Amino acid sequence: MNRFENKVAIVTGAAGGIGSAVAARLASEGATVVVSDVNQEAAQAVAASICANGDKGLAVAADIASGDDCRGLVQTVVNQLGRIDILVNNAGINRRGALLDLSEDDWHSSFAVNLDSMYYLCRAVLPIMIETGAGAIVNTASQWGLYPAPGHIAYNVTKAAVASFTQNLARDYAPQNIRVNAVCPGEIHTPMLEAGVLRSGRTIADLDRKVPLGRIGKPEEVAALVAFLASDEAAFMCGSLVEITGAQAVA
Ligand SMILES: NC(=O)c1ccc[n+]([C@@H]2O[C@H](COP(=O)([O-])OP(=O)(O)OC[C@H]3O[C@@H](n4cnc5c(N)ncnc54)[C@H](O)[C@@H]3O)[C@@H](O)[C@H]2O)c1
Repeated sequence: MNRFENKVAIVTGAAGGIGSAVAARLASEGATVVVSDVNQEAAQAVAASICANGDKGLAVAADIASGDDCRGLVQTVVNQLGRIDILVNNAGINRRGALLDLSEDDWHSSFAVNLDSMYYLCRAVLPIMIETGAGAIVNTASQWGLYPAPGHIAYNVTKAAVASFTQNLARDYAPQNIRVNAVCPGEIHTPMLEAGVLRSGRTIADLDRKVPLGRIGKPEEVAALVAFLASDEAAFMCGSLVEITGAQAVA
């Protein structure tokens, strides 16, 4: 498949587990992928591995909690590549804790990275997509934004807000042919998940047993869904929150 020939895609958190898989998948189907992450070295490594495969990747570091960085990222892409067709708002952090265990920094950082970044980046990208006459935005929410897991109130509330943000943006900009959707993953085997497993004293096998399909998900499986939502194959999908949980969400 070459669904993204001549398209430019920005992926945030693209040095991480799901983000690097999304970047590689979009690039493998022809997109020029802007690999963006706060971790510049890791973003460069992901872009280099995309280029080593003969695909097109460009690393642009940004701390998406900063409005200036978000606007700078978009301006850099416009200057260097001339267009933006796809925005994948993937970067996120997971500050664990029930309300009494959370610091103010945990709370505000969660909102800054998981939600405010979408405000900054979508405001910067939408005028470009509207001028082009089309665009696809895919946001990463979470199963926990829809069905909260205990002890993660900041994370869960930001992801619930991402789901609502997605529906609102879709409703407001569908008339301009901008499609906005969100993926809501269950447990996916990434560095974020491994950090959580270490903290809780559980094992991956413990998590596998909780999923009706018998295992947690792989980043490539989320990447396949993100690629579908970003592609013209999903031309009538707009405002959807798509769960990808191995049936855990309904268990
Ligand atoms: N892994 C899971 O089980 C799971 C489940 C549901 C949703 N998600 C969501 O998927 C997304 C990706 O998660 P992951 O599991 O791949 O995590 P990850 O920790 O492997 O990757 C996250 C990436 O985001 C980057 N990042 C963090 N703060 C940033 C900032 N301020 N600016 C720019 N980049 C920043 C990190 O450097 C990292 O490369 C997140 O939004 C997460 O909430 C993950």
